[in-house]
Amino acid sequence: MTHTVCLLPGDGIGPEVTTAARQVIDATGVDIEWVVLPAGSTALEFCGSVLPQRTLAAIAGHGVALKGPVTTPIGGGHTSVNVSLRKKLNLYAAVRPVRSMPGIKTRYDNVELVIIRENTEGLYSGIENEIVPGVVQSLKIATEPACTRIARFAFDYAVSRGRRRVTVLHKANIMKKSDGLFLRCARKVYTDYAGKIEYNELIIDNGCMQIIRDPSQFDVLLLENLYGDIISDLAAGLVGGLGVVPGANFGESCAVFEPVHGSAPDLARKGIANPLACIMSGVMMLNHLGEHEAAARIRDAYNTVLARGNPEELTRDIGGKATTQQFTDAVIKAMGT
Ligand code: NAI
Repeated sequence: MTHTVCLLPGDGIGPEVTTAARQVIDATGVDIEWVVLPAGSTALEFCGSVLPQRTLAAIAGHGVALKGPVTTPIGGGHTSVNVSLRKKLNLYAAVRPVRSMPGIKTRYDNVELVIIRENTEGLYSGIENEIVPGVVQSLKIATEPACTRIARFAFDYAVSRGRRRVTVLHKANIMKKSDGLFLRCARKVYTDYAGKIEYNELIIDNGCMQIIRDPSQFDVLLLENLYGDIISDLAAGLVGGLGVVPGANFGESCAVFEPVHGSAPDLARKGIANPLACIMSGVMMLNHLGEHEAAARIRDAYNTVLARGNPEELTRDIGGKATTQQFTDAVIKAMGT
């Protein structure tokens, strides 16, 4: 069966890591027709828009995309492509598995977390006003349908994968209304799952301390938008950094797979970025497409390369000296193709 997949190379290291992921996926022999589409600062330059209508239409039409990171200017400039993409395609659930990897030495070897992030609301509403010069406000939006929808997604995800517990991290002691609603919805949805899975709640500042102290006590984490963003990077730090954490954004009718990391301008065009997070996002995509055998082959191959620990095959962020292409070639070779 041929799959049609939208490929958004994005900005910075995006083209390098998406090229690597495409090479690895193509090496499995799965029949994919790639539709390459513009997004990000590069798209602005060539198409006059950071998120051209044809890009949105193609993802909505084909239902699946593999996306590289895009650059968002700080403190001004265009609004975030990611935020627009997630809102416009209603990609309401971000799923980010954070796992200890073979051969990557960190303080812990037993991290097995899944972060589930509400992707459409919270402080990412983009509603900010300057009331008078020197006084601004940002609106944090929470609605019952969106809070309920993400809670249901998290419990369904956790139960269907045999996970043991869902933990909500919140700040409902201070943001009593917005985080309070998020929490109330999670508790209400949990009544449908009680007996099938454990549920608990932690105030997020304590939660951060607990994650750093002993990540193994956590399983599936359910968070609103901004907390999910921050905890994703924090958790990446436990397992070897942003080069090894994949992600997926799910909506009712489409899914966009992308690494958690950004466009890493410090590494762009040097050919040294770690493509693993993007390759792992590709594995999540293959599973979504029902191509489980190809997904498993890639996973086994990168685990083999990591476990070998040969610096000539590993990128710098994980202790080696390989280029993006050398790591990619090592994974393809380990697949036995
Ligand atoms: P970043 O994730 O791009 O980089 C943070 C640090 O991690 C840097 O030191 C970078 O070199 C390192 N890093 C990231 N990915 C790596 C990889 N694959 N291999 C090796 N090292 C890697 O975050 P930063 O610097 O905060 O943001 C840069 C730009 O990316 C900003 O414009 C930001 O808005 C954007 N961004 C985009 C995202 C997306 O499109 N999904 C997500 C996060 C940030």
